[in-house]
Amino acid sequence: MFDVVEMPEDKASFYRILMARAKALTEGETDTLANLANVASLLFTTMAEVNWAGFYIARDNQLVLGPFMGNPACVRIPFGRGVCGSAAREQTTQVVDDVKAFPGHIACDSASQSEIVIPFCEEGEVKAVLDIDSPITSRFDEEDQKGLEALAELLAARIQFDQLRY
Ligand code: SME
Repeated sequence: MFDVVEMPEDKASFYRILMARAKALTEGETDTLANLANVASLLFTTMAEVNWAGFYIARDNQLVLGPFMGNPACVRIPFGRGVCGSAAREQTTQVVDDVKAFPGHIACDSASQSEIVIPFCEEGEVKAVLDIDSPITSRFDEEDQKGLEALAELLAARIQFDQLRY
């Protein structure tokens, strides 16, 4: 069940299988940290052309590094800064085709060329963001956005970000 399996190249099939695997991984598990860690691994090990995948958790108007896979990353991002901070402030998904052209982009990994960030919001408040970086430009299209937003919706129903408060 936990082996890395071959994933289909066409995006509709890819996201269908990704969703099924995320469901199976998080089924019946109530620990938020464990679920986020496994989903970060699932994304990193299955998505082509991805060099970083993980979560930042919202605390006091900042995003703080959470479970991820990829190179070590900056720990704290103020709301409004970079792509992650913009997703948190705007409470909308950010798709950036060329991060070098994005004002204020935070270059944690110089290999990153494009990026998608999806916020998790509850009752008008951002709780976390999912950040995925790619070493090629324009990696993420509308199909990726739709697939990843559906994944975020599934996760949101299964995790409690308040478990991560301290
Ligand atoms: N590039 C991000 C910072 C986080 S790292 O990519 C992991 C940004 O500008 O928000």
